[in-house]
Amino acid sequence: MGSFANTKDLGSAQLTIQGTTIDLPLFEGSENEKAIDIRALRKETGAITYDPGFVNTGCCLSDITYIDGEKGILRYRGYDINELAEHCEFIDVAYLLIHGKLPDDEQHNQFSRHLNSHSLLHEDMRHFFDAYPDHAHPMATLSAMAVSLSTFYPELEDVSIQENIDYKVTRLLSKLRTAAAFSYKKSIGHPIVYPKRSLKYCENFLNMMFWTPVNDYDVDPVLAKALNKLLILHADHEQNCSASVVKMVGSAGANLYASIAAGICALWGPLHGGANQHVIEMLQRILSDDGGDVKRVIERSKDKNDPFRLMGVGHRVYKSYDPRAKVAKQMCKDVLARTGTTDPLLDLALQLEEAVLADDYFVSRGLYPNIDFYTGLTYRAMGIPTNMFTVMFAIGRMPGWIAQWLEMREDPDGRIGRPRQIYTGPVQRSVK
Ligand code: SDX
Repeated sequence: MGSFANTKDLGSAQLTIQGTTIDLPLFEGSENEKAIDIRALRKETGAITYDPGFVNTGCCLSDITYIDGEKGILRYRGYDINELAEHCEFIDVAYLLIHGKLPDDEQHNQFSRHLNSHSLLHEDMRHFFDAYPDHAHPMATLSAMAVSLSTFYPELEDVSIQENIDYKVTRLLSKLRTAAAFSYKKSIGHPIVYPKRSLKYCENFLNMMFWTPVNDYDVDPVLAKALNKLLILHADHEQNCSASVVKMVGSAGANLYASIAAGICALWGPLHGGANQHVIEMLQRILSDDGGDVKRVIERSKDKNDPFRLMGVGHRVYKSYDPRAKVAKQMCKDVLARTGTTDPLLDLALQLEEAVLADDYFVSRGLYPNIDFYTGLTYRAMGIPTNMFTVMFAIGRMPGWIAQWLEMREDPDGRIGRPRQIYTGPVQRSVK
């Protein structure tokens, strides 16, 4: 849990407002990020801060994830993303984010067994899919499944709060992965495939997605490794939009399932996790409508009068190359090589990236490819359909959302989230 015990006191910052000067505590975290503690601001000056999108505003102290946007650094609990992606399984990283340390062999095996034993959906929940139209977006069903877990698996009276949380964590990580595969099978009219005890987390997902009674699908270990890496890349990312929504809902006392369901909906937005689906759709349109004319696309994306935006480019925090995009780019090439296929959309994406990196409009604004620029291409190379890409992001982000929610709930400074505003509407007037 984030704590002032791990910060360094830097004295104070002085603020003068209309002749009144106040001292506000100044401190820095373990990576020398500086912050002004403005908790006394309104009481002492009557003023509040104004910061649309919270670009300059920190909402908490956190021990979970650290990003250096200028240097393109991402660490979970102090471990660099490249090391975790190379040497760990996704469930190890999920354990790390939630418990603060990597599991030893026994803890890994026990966690894997728990995830397997909670991998089935309640049969009544399985029938939810019968009521959805085939074209239902799987992010809608995933959010509905998340909040519905609270009705099928209410709080257990005879166990501790911690055990209740452990059950919720395991169910969210395991059952939502199963629900994601079920929604895909429903969308293509195939019989659903149940999880198998003999398969590990990622292998089980691939088997549930691609095995059919007439296609004896064998999980390719290279694709399973690629899926582990992709989920690790997505596992957490500080106070991003969807994590902030999970915490905002949780700060009101709502249960973890309801908080996660809200986070899934936030992630669905095209400016956030939905970008990975929109990148592919953008690349397909560029090929079909513009004949792959990269120059024209770049000019359109710089034209303020043109609503077109380059999806998968730019980031609120990274003003350098997103370290996750580097890993995803190489993985896309590896998976295509493994499957012996090529993808004209990857060739186009590489041309677009080259044009972005050479154009001062983007470089001067710190606009580089982000995680969503290549991950969709990798999922596509694995045979995962476009409308499932953001679901894959949600499965990966699940442990990060859970870890952020738990940290918020344990925070002694934690309060219900309720930003203020400055009113600019009509002053008092009478109906008569
Ligand atoms: C994710 O927060 C996280 O950590 C998110 C995430 C995670 O892991 O949780 O990393 C996942 O959401 C990645 C981002 C996916 N979204 C996209 O790829 C959509 C395309 N990108 C943009 O819409 C935008 O870059 C955002 C939404 C990502 C960031 O928006 P900001 O920080 O509010 O930046 P902005 O819109 O104010 O842009 C700053 C400038 C503007 O130009 P000027 O006003 O300075 O002239 O950069 C321009 C923008 O017009 N700009 C772009 C652009 N993105 C920003 N111009 C062209 N194409 C783009 N993609």
